[in-house]
Formats: sequence, structure tokens, C-alpha cells
Amino acid sequence: MFEQHPYGKLISEYIQNEKYPVQPADLYNPIKYILSLSGKRIRPMLVLMGARLFGKEDLKEVVPAGIAIEYFHNFSLIHDDIMDRAPLRRGQATVHQKWNDNVAILSGDALLVKAYQELGKSPADRIPSLLQVFNKIALEVCEGQQLDMDFEKIDHVSEDEYLNMIRLKTSVLLGGALQMGAILAYADEKQQQLIYDFGVNLGIAFQLQDDYLDVYGDPSAFGKQVGGDILCNKKTYLRIKTEQLIDGEARAEFDDLLSSDTIEDGEKVSRMKNLYAKFQVDRYAEDIKLRYTDLAYNKLEQISVSEPQKAELRKLADTLMHRTR
Ligand code: IPE
Ligand code: IPE
Ligand code: MG
Ligand code: MG
Ligand code: MG
Repeated sequence: MFEQHPYGKLISEYIQNEKYPVQPADLYNPIKYILSLSGKRIRPMLVLMGARLFGKEDLKEVVPAGIAIEYFHNFSLIHDDIMDRAPLRRGQATVHQKWNDNVAILSGDALLVKAYQELGKSPADRIPSLLQVFNKIALEVCEGQQLDMDFEKIDHVSEDEYLNMIRLKTSVLLGGALQMGAILAYADEKQQQLIYDFGVNLGIAFQLQDDYLDVYGDPSAFGKQVGGDILCNKKTYLRIKTEQLIDGEARAEFDDLLSSDTIEDGEKVSRMKNLYAKFQVDRYAEDIKLRYTDLAYNKLEQISVSEPQKAELRKLADTLMHRTR
């Protein structure tokens, strides 16, 4: 998606040039593998764009923080795919499928350590502030991931609980990426807060789009198993909205789908999709996604740099909201 963007290239080159020990192969090969797959590299782009927005010229000083965020993200994906029992990632087998769970756990851990190693290459006077933000959001991502799993086990989750969960598991990382860029550009705290808020609202819209694609994505473009959230009983916005609106016979069908453990996977996904269609929940998801996108743009407007300097971020946000993968 952003592979052709100069920042995307900068990030990819840096990742490709990283050297790894040959042994133990099952520790380092999974890391090289996940990083070689075609991720969109959104988060490091946000670090670079956040720094540029506030006038940072020398992007070489910013790249390590971007790489740190991308390593953290990939670590979280390796572990997320175990937790979500996911077979596919970026169009290829997930690490735990290609190797096994233990390999995925340890290589994920090693990638988290490498994230800190990269962060440590940032300009020395910026490291304390960067660490503070990084540690805060990293812990919040763990909180969000635990809530996401807790929600699989319970029947009712409210819209607010859902929004809080996705803010934690996904959005704070986008907000934090931008804020770290701002820190590297010596932006003041008020500006840091605004760019963080832009990222968090954008991140909520981003996760809403992710949940939408999980059901309606084109399998060849999406790169993940379509219907995976339905099979895991994930409380997505689509699912929560259906539960709110459903009644009568459709309610019985919904309850049957959730309680039966004999329905085959493909059938469960297609019957749940029929219920989503009946109540047109995709429209509600689109509405709320637009609401959060607007909130994000509103925060961007308040940032005190000239409008043309914001064009890049606006374009990125727009691309993300219409993405197919
Ligand atoms: C996937 O993130 C995980 C979510 C938070 C939805 P991306 O959609 O950015 O995944 P890649 O890095 O491009 O594969
Ligand atoms: C992932 O949310 C959030 C994190 C990895 C922290 P999802 O579970 O929806 O992400 P995908 O769909 O597997 O990429
Ligand atoms: Mg997950
Ligand atoms: Mg997942
Ligand atoms: Mg998802």
C-alpha cells in the first residue's frame, strides 16, 4: 500500500538490512519471516510523518523509533495469531502454524526485545520521553488484548466496552507512533496531545475497518482468514449491533449459531453473515467509522502548523479508511 512511498522505502530498507545470527534458526527465522511479509508499515510511517509535521528535517534520527514501533506491532501479531487461532497472516501461514506455538511465543518475545534495542538508538535527550510513551501504550495494548479475549467468553458487551477495548488494543499504538514522532521533533505537550488524539480516533476507525474486512474482505487481497472473528466469537461492532437489533425468529437462529458446536465453520460464517445482512449492521459500522474519522480530522485541524503540512497525514488517513487489506 505504502511500499512506493519514500518513507515506506526507508523503513523497508532498514528492516531488510538488519543482520541476524544464524543460530538458533527457530528463534530468528520466524522474525525474518514475519518481517519479510508485506505489511503496510503504517505505524512507522506515522512516526516519520509525526516528526515531519513538526518540522523535523533529519529523518535518520526518527527511523529507529519507527522501527521500534513496527517491531512491537509484529511481535503483537505473532502472539495475537496464537490467541486468535489464526491460520493466515499477510497472505501466508502464521508463525505458529508454520512452526509451532512455542516457537511463536519465543520469537515474539525476542522481537519485543529488539523493539527496545531500536528505541535505544534514538537521540539520547529524547529517550526518556519516548520510553514513557512507548511503555504506556505497550501495556495498554496488552490490556486491550486481554479484554478482547475476555469478551469471547461473555454474551453481552456494550458499544462503549467494545470501543474502549479497541482503543487499547489498536488505537493507542497509532496515536503513540505519531506522538513519538512529535517528541523527536521537540513539539510541545499540547501539540503532542493533539496529534496523539488524532491517531487514537483514526485508530478506532482503523479497527472498525479491520472488523469489517474480517467479514466482507476479498480473501485474495485481505491476506487473513475471512470470517475468523465470527469463528472466534469476537465481539466486533457488527456482532454487537446485531445482538442489539435482533428479535423473533432471527434471535433463535442467532442463539442457535452461538450455542451449537456441531455447525461446520463455513456454514457458521455464512449464516452469521446472513443475519448481519438482514439487520444491515454494516451500515451502522460504516457510520461510526465515519464519526471517528471526523473526530480525527477535527483534532488534526487544531494542530498549529500550516494546512499544507497536514496534507500528507490527511491523505494517509483517507487511504486507510478505504483499504482492502
Ligand atoms: C493489523 O494491523 C492488526 C490490527 C491492529 C488491526 P495492520 O492492518 O496494520 O497489519 P499489517 O502490518 O499491515 O499487516
Ligand atoms: C489485533 O486485533 C490487535 C493487536 C494485534 C494488538 P485483531 O486480532 O483484529 O488483528 P488481526 O485482524 O488479527 O490483524
Ligand atoms: Mg486479536
Ligand atoms: Mg487477530
Ligand atoms: Mg481483525
